[in-house]
Amino acid sequence: MAQHILAIDQGTTSSRAIIFDAQANPVAVSQAEFKQYFPQDGWVEHDGEEIWSSTLDVCRDVLHKAQLQASDISAIGITNQRETTLLWDAETGELLHHAIVWQDRRTADYCTELKEAGHEAMVTANTGLLIDPYFSGTKLRWLLDNVDSARERADQGKLRFGTVDTFLLWRLTGGKVHRTDASNASRTLMFNIHTQQWDEQMLELLGIPSSLLPEVMDCAAEFGTTEADVLGAAIPVAGIAGDQQAALIGQACFKAGMVKSTYGTGCFMVMNTGDKPIRSEHRLLTTVGYRLKGKTTYALEGSIFVAGAAIQWLRDGLKLIQHAGETEAMAEETGDQCGVYLVPAFTGLGAPYWDPKARGAIFGLTRDTGIAEIVTAGLQSVCFQTRDLLDAMIADGANSTAALRVDGGMVVNNWVVQALANILGVPVDRPQVTETTALGAAYLAGLQIGLFKDLDDIAQRWQCERAFSPAMPEAKREQLYSGWLDAIRRVRDVPV
Ligand code: G3P
Repeated sequence: MAQHILAIDQGTTSSRAIIFDAQANPVAVSQAEFKQYFPQDGWVEHDGEEIWSSTLDVCRDVLHKAQLQASDISAIGITNQRETTLLWDAETGELLHHAIVWQDRRTADYCTELKEAGHEAMVTANTGLLIDPYFSGTKLRWLLDNVDSARERADQGKLRFGTVDTFLLWRLTGGKVHRTDASNASRTLMFNIHTQQWDEQMLELLGIPSSLLPEVMDCAAEFGTTEADVLGAAIPVAGIAGDQQAALIGQACFKAGMVKSTYGTGCFMVMNTGDKPIRSEHRLLTTVGYRLKGKTTYALEGSIFVAGAAIQWLRDGLKLIQHAGETEAMAEETGDQCGVYLVPAFTGLGAPYWDPKARGAIFGLTRDTGIAEIVTAGLQSVCFQTRDLLDAMIADGANSTAALRVDGGMVVNNWVVQALANILGVPVDRPQVTETTALGAAYLAGLQIGLFKDLDDIAQRWQCERAFSPAMPEAKREQLYSGWLDAIRRVRDVPV
């Protein structure tokens, strides 16, 4: 029987499982959405049990679809929504609380306190991140402070913390393995990206006992073996990476300067910066791209919270369209110079502004403005936000001559990808396999079991489906973009 790899992609709104064959072609896909909980303004939670049950469901379903047995799977790769924070009992595996999701802003006041007390320079120096509720550390502290007896039990060494990868690994191995990988660890605010160890200073600042923390491994490693009765066979878990880092691998961005951008709910642009962490002067994040055989490759990341979600809002909130698929023809008809700007700062602005108080707005409305213009402005907002990130990366000294590699649900829209090339003024490549996140996890597991030889072997498999070249005069590009910067200035509570 030919070898197969099962990639688990546990995302923010759905759990997915994809089986890849030995040539890294997707064979079958299964997906299940699960419930989002919004208990208070700015709070976002998931039920960890639903994360687990939906993951199991899609794993079983994808095996069925591919007509394979669990014993036909050579290895599992896990990729996941990052930063989302879970806490459970080491003995029983029982979760103490819903998972606090990466988008959750409940620790905003505590983050302000930390900043005002002057801690940000140390935090950035050690972790590569900023003080923001986005990351796991302040969420974990919140759980310890707010769940009955949690701190006491944590101090007694009776609890375990994990991001979603760690939690799934724990459950898959029947509670035997408490591990994570360096890419997920680098998003917790507790990991020192230079020493590649949990950071004592951060643990002390946040009041986190080290007994809670998982062992940090390379991204391709012997993480553990599934308990035979969970999926029907004992399968090695051989690869783990956070979803944006997995997409970097799936897009084969293995050389310094190569950059990918993933358009899902949000947009995450990640640039490989090689073996040296670049410290951003423009409020980008310095993070672990991947760690293989003990060698860390670093990345610069720009995170935008609303990309595809803006189109969802046009569809479900404003009901201007019925399907996202309609937007391409509308934008073609409208063209790129309708003068309307939509700033989708629904939950504030992410990189490079990090302004939680900014709110969305639409500017430039005239008597002629109709649905098509507003929809086009929504699509353009994704391109302008990407330009904000790329400019910040270039200002940080990133030297990229490579085309931007794009993936995610939105990039099926040809108008968007062409507009992206036009606004960035750089070529944009769309790959043949757009399931790059799951593919990255499969590559990591495949590397570990010897199915793929090395990163060069993987890089050779990457194929461009369509290359988009910039086709807009520079003066027009800059005029359009300056209108965006003006709109950003107006939605911010502080002058840019
Ligand atoms: O940092 C958050 C990111 O990992 C979430 O990704 O694709 O689940 O929205 P996604």
